[in-house]
Amino acid sequence: MKEAAVADVEHTIGMLLGTEDDWPRAYEALLRRVGLVTGPDGKTHRANAVRVTIEPFNLRDKPRHDLVIDRLAYWYYHPREWLKKIALMDDVYLLNSPFTFQSMEKHAAYCAMLRLGLKIPETVLVPFKNPLENSRWAYTAARYNRPFDLEATAAAIGYPLWMKPYDGGAWVGVSKIRNEIELHAAYDASGERLMHLQASIEGYDVFARSLSIGPETMVMKFRPDQPMHARYEVDHNFLSASAGDEVVTISRLVNAFFRWEFNSCETLVRGDEVHPIDYANACPDVALTSLHYYFPWAMTALLRWTVFCVVTGRKPRLDTDTSRYFAIADDHSLGYAEKLAAYRKLADDYFEVDRYQEFCAKHLGNLDDIVYDWVTSEEFRSLLRETVRAMYPVHEHEKFLAHFGGLIDAWIRDQDR
Ligand SMILES: Nc1ncnc2c1ncn2[C@@H]1O[C@H](COP(=O)(O)OP(=O)(O)O)[C@@H](O)[C@H]1O
Ligand SMILES: [Mg+2]
Repeated sequence: MKEAAVADVEHTIGMLLGTEDDWPRAYEALLRRVGLVTGPDGKTHRANAVRVTIEPFNLRDKPRHDLVIDRLAYWYYHPREWLKKIALMDDVYLLNSPFTFQSMEKHAAYCAMLRLGLKIPETVLVPFKNPLENSRWAYTAARYNRPFDLEATAAAIGYPLWMKPYDGGAWVGVSKIRNEIELHAAYDASGERLMHLQASIEGYDVFARSLSIGPETMVMKFRPDQPMHARYEVDHNFLSASAGDEVVTISRLVNAFFRWEFNSCETLVRGDEVHPIDYANACPDVALTSLHYYFPWAMTALLRWTVFCVVTGRKPRLDTDTSRYFAIADDHSLGYAEKLAAYRKLADDYFEVDRYQEFCAKHLGNLDDIVYDWVTSEEFRSLLRETVRAMYPVHEHEKFLAHFGGLIDAWIRDQDR
């Protein structure tokens, strides 16, 4: 059996997990099926997935991991500090590195992308509504907080607009504001959350949500008004070729710029204009019950990129080297399309797109077959059943099994085998 064969080089891929179990099981099962990979060095490699446990660690400990996929450190600080240690001391490759989290709030990403000339809607950061719990607040605020006219600030942006946390996620605290009454109500409710006011992109044609893993991006049609299981519509033709390419470029650019390797990006497309609104997510949703049809793609991309990184010994590169991007941004002789093309080159460079594609073709040529065999197996069907059972109340099991089963069947048919 393939699994029993001895590899010249063994790699350990750690998964730092919170509550999810669906994609980790998929990833573990698929990695086992991948078995031995012959690398460009002529040696056989095997990557083994392990789940990282949380326990005391000595700062001088040597981790056994070559790469860690992190889904936890954005809120759980003990493993976050462990990630920092293994990044600083042991060169472990991270998806994503906690050193990039500081700009995982939307605000920094808006600023950087504005500087790069992307079409970010007009955005204003307003001061906290409520006093902060800090003994120095009263004195500082009395001295330095200038009274401001919220209504005038909003009027300058224009209605409708959005009020949303500067560091938000999962729609928490997001509201659409149509008038001054809603404006005050939302601001009063914001309390100690720091809020952006942002012009609304009205009447957009498509909400494109893209999921990126390393240099791979899937652009999906998103319907934000639908319940979770129905938000991604299966549609392969909803963007013009140029808008589709622009969304891919923007996604890859944002990720390369901030060194994010596993991220989702939201853009609103109106006519030929692509407006990014949300593109900083340390832990993007990859649940089987959200991605459904696109889940096999996500697992394939995650396997490809992680195996590429460990087998080729790709080094983490945390120095963001923003000046190379800003040099393009600040070159006034370049138009928008030329800038995007220049950024795309930098981003492709960062993700080693050519070397990666060659690697996938040469060393992982059988991966599509492996994923196909697995998705059509009983093992996958039981994962789907168990995921649905864990996620929905009993009376909905049948409905959702049929729903997701049907979408997976559509994926299987579309593989044209
Ligand atoms: N500028 C905007 N124009 C139009 N719709 C927006 C805008 N900003 C936010 N929205 C809507 O609000 C939702 C949540 O806002 P978003 O910035 O994505 O925050 P979160 O990080 O919580 O997902 C978006 O998915 C979109 O439907
Ligand atoms: Mg969003």
